[in-house]
Amino acid sequence: MIEYFEKRAPSYEARSQRGLWRHVRQREWEAIQHALRPQAGQSVLEIGCGAGFYSRRLHALGLKVTAVDSSPAMLTTLAGSGITTHLSRAEDFTPSTLFDSVLCAGVLEFVSDAEAVFARARTALRADGRLVILVPRDGLVGRMYELAHTSCPVYLRALSQYVEFGTNQGFTLSERPQTTWLSHVLKFHSL
Ligand SMILES: C[S@@+](CC[C@H](N)C(=O)[O-])C[C@H]1O[C@@H](n2cnc3c(N)ncnc32)[C@H](O)[C@@H]1O
Repeated sequence: MIEYFEKRAPSYEARSQRGLWRHVRQREWEAIQHALRPQAGQSVLEIGCGAGFYSRRLHALGLKVTAVDSSPAMLTTLAGSGITTHLSRAEDFTPSTLFDSVLCAGVLEFVSDAEAVFARARTALRADGRLVILVPRDGLVGRMYELAHTSCPVYLRALSQYVEFGTNQGFTLSERPQTTWLSHVLKFHSL
């Protein structure tokens, strides 16, 4: 899985600005902003940041962004961006500070033990913090997403499964999920 993203890292950000993906990304960014309600000065941890599509935008809005990914090549693309980066698997990341929000977008479907990521996110959040996740829709759209990632295992899960992972790890779903063409955006609160 790491090799898959390592290979794509140098062109990842540029590709997400082109064609159909650009439109999908724009809609997903709007859904994520709606859920996160970013405000300058807030701290946010992005788990599985890739080339920083969301981290860069949140940084530009004045948030203090920390970004984690298991791909060194992805993190290299963030050099000089002003974003603090950590090379780590999401399941193992131990933060040294607490965050107002955690964002995990387009990552959980590549993780076999996705509940472990919820557990790590929980330990990274201050009381009453927010966790926002973006996951692919299951069904036909999910199948197409899976076919687009043939060289990398994709774990398609029902929305209810993610809600269960969150609940098990001490979160409550705080808003009705938003659905885009390809994905769902879920917002949880830590208690
Ligand atoms: C589809 S990309 C999404 C990147 C970014 N969130 C975005 O939306 O542009 C998935 C990213 O998750 C990272 N990733 C996958 N599994 C991971 C894991 N277990 N721990 C940390 N990062 C992981 C990959 O290296 C890749 O950069």
